[in-house]
Amino acid sequence: MVYFIGAGPGDPDLITVKGQKIIQEADIIIYAGSLVNGRIIDCRKPDAEVFNSASMTLEEVIDVMERGVGEGKLVARVHTGDPSIYGAIREQMDILDEKNIPYEVIPGVSSFVASAAVIKKEFTLPGVTQTVILTRMEGRTDVPEKESLESLGRHRASMCIFLSVHMIDEVVEKLKVHYPMTTPVAVVEKATWEDQKIVLGTLEDISRKVKDAGIYKTAQIMVGDFLGNQYEKSKLYDKNFHHGFRSGGNA
Ligand SMILES: C[S@@+](CC[C@H](N)C(=O)[O-])C[C@H]1O[C@@H](n2cnc3c(N)ncnc32)[C@H](O)[C@@H]1O
Repeated sequence: MVYFIGAGPGDPDLITVKGQKIIQEADIIIYAGSLVNGRIIDCRKPDAEVFNSASMTLEEVIDVMERGVGEGKLVARVHTGDPSIYGAIREQMDILDEKNIPYEVIPGVSSFVASAAVIKKEFTLPGVTQTVILTRMEGRTDVPEKESLESLGRHRASMCIFLSVHMIDEVVEKLKVHYPMTTPVAVVEKATWEDQKIVLGTLEDISRKVKDAGIYKTAQIMVGDFLGNQYEKSKLYDKNFHHGFRSGGNA
C-alpha cells in the first residue's frame, strides 16, 4: 500500500496523527527533501529506507513504490503542506491506478492556512469577502490566461499566491490593476518553521520590504482587505440570529 501524506507547512507537530502513524510504521519513505522538514521523518523505524524525491524523476519515484508494494511493504510518500495543492500527485496516482497499486491520500495543513494562522487573520470576513483564491504567477509552469492575476484580482477577494515571491514586482504590477494601492499585503516565508519571517505592508511598499527582508522563496503572498480591521460581526454567534444549533436569541 502507498500512502500520500501531507506533512504540513514545516513545524513537525503540524502533521496529522494519522499521517505520523503511517510514517512510524512505513518500510519505505519517499519525501520531498527540498520542502519537507526532515524532522517529520525522525519518528521512522530504524530500518526504514528513505528516498529524497528532490533528486528523483517521476519514473524513479514510481519504481520505488512499485518495488516496495511488490515486496509487501508499506510506502509513505510525504509531500509538503497538503498534497492536493501544487503537489504533483495526480500524475503519480494515475500511474498507480494503471498499475493497480492501491493508495490512499492523507491530507495535511497547507502553507496558506498556516500563514493565516501565524499572522492571526481570517480569510473570510463578513462584509469584506467570503472567497479565498489560491493561485500562482506563471513561471516555468504556465497558468491559463483566463486565470491571470489581473483577471482574478477583479474580485478583490482574499488571495494567496504560491510559488511567486521571487517575482514580487510583477505580482504587484498585476494586482494593482484592480486592488487599490492601499490594499494590505502579508508575505510569510517558511510559515511555522523556526526561521519563519513575516513582512506586512501594502501594494505600495511590499516589494521593497520583501527584498529588504531577503525573501526569495518558500513564501506565501497574501493580499486583500481581510488583512485590515474593517468587518461585520459573524451572524453565527449573533444573539439575535437563530439557527439549527441555537434557538435562544433575545427571548
Ligand atoms: C510546490 S508548492 C507546495 C505547496 C504545498 N502543497 C502546500 O499545501 O502548502 C511550494 C510553495 O508553497 C508555499 N509554501 C510551502 N511551504 C510554505 C511555508 N511553510 N510558508 C510559506 N509558504 C510555503 C510557497 O509558495 C512555495 O513556493
